[in-house]
Amino acid sequence: MDSTNVLLSVFFFLFFASFPVPATSSPPFFPAEALPTKSGYLPINPTTGSAIYFAFYEAQTPISSISKTPLLIWLQGGPGCSSMIGNFFELGPWRVNFHKKETDPVSLIPNTGSWNRRFGVLFLDNPIGTGFSIAATKDEIPKNQYSVSKYLFSAISSFIEQDITFKNRPIYITGESYAGKYVPSIGYYILKKNPKLPVDKKLNLAGVAIGNGLTDPITQVATHALNAYYSGLINERQKKEMEIAQLEAVELTKKGNWSEATNARSKVLNLLKNMTGLATLYDYTRKSPYNSELVAEFLSFKEVKRALGVNESMVFEECSDLVGEVLKDDVMKSMRYKVDYLVKNSKVLVYQGQFDLRDGVVSTEAWLKKVKWGEIERFLGADRKIWSVGDELAGYVQKWKSLSNAVVLGAGHLVPSDQALNSQAMIEDWVLEKGVFGDDNAEEKKPFGANDFGVW
Ligand SMILES: *[C@@H]1O[C@H](CO)[C@@H](O)[C@H](O)[C@H]1NC(C)=O
Ligand SMILES: *[C@@H]1O[C@H](CO)[C@@H](O)[C@H](O)[C@H]1NC(C)=O
Ligand SMILES: *[C@@H]1O[C@H](CO)[C@@H](O)[C@H](O)[C@H]1NC(C)=O
Repeated sequence: MDSTNVLLSVFFFLFFASFPVPATSSPPFFPAEALPTKSGYLPINPTTGSAIYFAFYEAQTPISSISKTPLLIWLQGGPGCSSMIGNFFELGPWRVNFHKKETDPVSLIPNTGSWNRRFGVLFLDNPIGTGFSIAATKDEIPKNQYSVSKYLFSAISSFIEQDITFKNRPIYITGESYAGKYVPSIGYYILKKNPKLPVDKKLNLAGVAIGNGLTDPITQVATHALNAYYSGLINERQKKEMEIAQLEAVELTKKGNWSEATNARSKVLNLLKNMTGLATLYDYTRKSPYNSELVAEFLSFKEVKRALGVNESMVFEECSDLVGEVLKDDVMKSMRYKVDYLVKNSKVLVYQGQFDLRDGVVSTEAWLKKVKWGEIERFLGADRKIWSVGDELAGYVQKWKSLSNAVVLGAGHLVPSDQALNSQAMIEDWVLEKGVFGDDNAEEKKPFGANDFGVW
């Protein structure tokens, strides 16, 4: 999630810092079975104490031996938003009761669409300074994707080293929104780094998945006007006004004026918000924004922090404005070239909730067309298959060899929150290459004569 009102957060920070509110309400219900399999810190700089916080949930009902069971790594966006949103609001095994009545206390309820049904899931608060992760100094917070990846590589390596059975498990890097930059970056970093490392230090990357991602901002920022116009949200005159604002962001990006380009993109999104009066651009069908602040409320209890292996004096923020500020010059830099590399050397899924106006279907399709890959024309010409889960329509999947693009119906920016079961079916089938994510050539490979018009 992109961070929002800086001034407001600064105000709240100062307010609560000077008048701490005593935690009078009783701690929320946190059943023992909702605890992570393990959680804690992965050192980044042992000298200063900077470290990445992790929460790991082993597969509930794996279909292979644990030492072969895939490991998914989840990275939240922002920049600076905590993966505990992914954990407790989207795809973790237990989520906050986000459909609760306002007067009900916050608690955890099991998520039948959890992504750790078949696979282990590791949530990382990335980069340092985010969520429960620790940045000893502001200077240590990464300013670009290279540094983000370097830290992630070190954190993932030390996690894998904790347990001998992790060593050969295939790793899938997944994430959402601004992780549209983190995910291809760490994937690319692993592929480039592995050949220089001894066998026991290599990371076993098997694929990357980007949900409603910001990956190629210069292409994506230019799609809002048309998308909103054809969605019936703005008129022709507003479309023109939006196009002028978009062009400004594109020009500043081309000039490499990164900070102003980031501001110009924010202006485009604010303009759209202002013109449409929508509750949130993350889902144009919603009457109110996602109430992910429930996660922050849940994580403010010292009992909960203790249970999760966090120092109870730590103050949890959904999104860190400081990390957002440090990465400001990174926002408009394209990571598409890393996807070019991953699609040739690994496997890539992009998926989008249909109702997202920020990093949605049209926005993603625009940059996918530009991927440099010998097979891209075959991909673009591939059938967009109707995808069902059980008997119900779930969305559409277009796949060619290592590249898959899924559109999830009835979902906004936070796909696993809105379509838990379908998101679970999607990630499982993509990893296991089943159903619509199965072999492209299955049809062609059918022996001749297996069809109705057989000659025998
Ligand atoms: C960036 O753009 C702004 C606004 O157009 C301009 O005032 C500023 O001088 C530019 N900075 C650089 C380094 O080009
Ligand atoms: C948003 O809309 C209001 C009128 O509804 C207008 O007064 C205001 O200037 C607009 N803000 C921006 C940033 O466009
Ligand atoms: C928690 O953090 C505080 C403040 O940094 C520190 O004094 C305390 O020793 C820490 N507690 C534990 C258990 O690490």
